[in-house]
Amino acid sequence: MSTTAAARGLEGIVAAHSGICWIDGDAGVLAYRGIDIHELAQKSTFEETAYLLWFGKLPTATELKEFRSHLSSGRILPKEIIQLMQELPRHAMPMEVLRTVVSALSLYDADEKDNSHDANVRKSYRLTSQIAMIVAVYDRIRKGKPLVEADPSLSHAANFLWMLNGEKPSSTAERALDVALILHADHELNASTFAARVIAATLSDMHSAITGAIGALKGPLHGGANEAVMRLLFTIDKEGADPVEYVRKMLADKKKISGFGHRVYHTEDPRATHLRRMSEDLGRASGNPKWFEMSRQIELFVKEEKKLNANVDFYSASTYTTLGIDVDLFTPIFAISRIAGWAAHVIEQLDDNRLIRPRAEYNGPAYPAKYIPMESR
Ligand SMILES: CC(C)(COP(=O)(O)OP(=O)(O)OC[C@H]1O[C@@H](n2cnc3c(N)ncnc32)[C@H](O)[C@@H]1OP(=O)(O)O)[C@@H](O)C(=O)NCCC(=O)NCCS
Repeated sequence: MSTTAAARGLEGIVAAHSGICWIDGDAGVLAYRGIDIHELAQKSTFEETAYLLWFGKLPTATELKEFRSHLSSGRILPKEIIQLMQELPRHAMPMEVLRTVVSALSLYDADEKDNSHDANVRKSYRLTSQIAMIVAVYDRIRKGKPLVEADPSLSHAANFLWMLNGEKPSSTAERALDVALILHADHELNASTFAARVIAATLSDMHSAITGAIGALKGPLHGGANEAVMRLLFTIDKEGADPVEYVRKMLADKKKISGFGHRVYHTEDPRATHLRRMSEDLGRASGNPKWFEMSRQIELFVKEEKKLNANVDFYSASTYTTLGIDVDLFTPIFAISRIAGWAAHVIEQLDDNRLIRPRAEYNGPAYPAKYIPMESR
């Protein structure tokens, strides 16, 4: 076995060839298929971005129309899946429900036994539509509200808000969510995408890979950080504490501040630039800039004190809260977007597959350790 020292958390290890997403962590650059995220955030839509991630180029008008039509015709949840959601315990967190239901969906998928490229593209359409629906439907079930039928005329972002709230979103809310979905759609070998690729590489199936990815996204060191940020802001507000003093104490107690730091970026996370602006604009437009202002004070302090930058999760918290979205839906919304990247990576992995099976640097008892019989232990 190689004597190379193990990289804790695989930091800095290049584990795959990929043509999907490029990050320059020192310069703060993120690009999907070579196109800068700033340009996509300004000019693109979630649907166009998902097409770009899956097919490697921007769609023509006809291709985009077809893509949208695949997504809207995929807005179907089997009745057994709705029943399953109705029977789950009411304390189930939306991320747990999403993980469980995506796994169950494989049993009803028309391509269940087919792991070919074309079948996986079809599953990607369906899962992209269904993940957004599951989040909206479960939220209404747990609140005892009647379910809302999907509207095929709406964009992906607008249909989600429609099915969640039962009213058509304003163009500001639709565009804000659409931009958030673009910003979260892919991020190279982040933990959940890597998990998806590892599962796909065993020649398991798309639903298993996405189920595993959802499980990885749920953790507070990954997608779960956006919920933790908002819980922190709520606590500070409820206690009437000074945001800077509160966070100063957390740092003195060696606690991590969710929404700061990144394994890859050593400068501003380019996604945070947009989310900060959205949080500020939405806060001012709604007449409640409180969450933005608290966030900004914390950001300036953590940057000054610890040289840590806000990441994608920090301002998505105040942005979603200002849009009226419940805290425990933040990470599911991350999944509503990241399915685009997960699907692109699963398809890319399977198009040129090799089992992903690293080694561990062994630090257990020296070999050969003695087997001591039961009576002598
Ligand atoms: C994202 C994250 C897991 C990356 O971590 P990593 O590359 O493994 O780096 P480490 O956790 O080893 O942190 C390196 C140092 O920075 C500090 N640090 C990193 N993020 C910090 C944070 N959010 N708050 C306070 N200190 C932090 C660590 O305490 C550590 O300090 P030390 O060397 O004095 O012990 C980490 O920054 C983090 O936990 N952030 C909060 C959760 C979060 O926002 N996750 C979403 C990421 S998009």
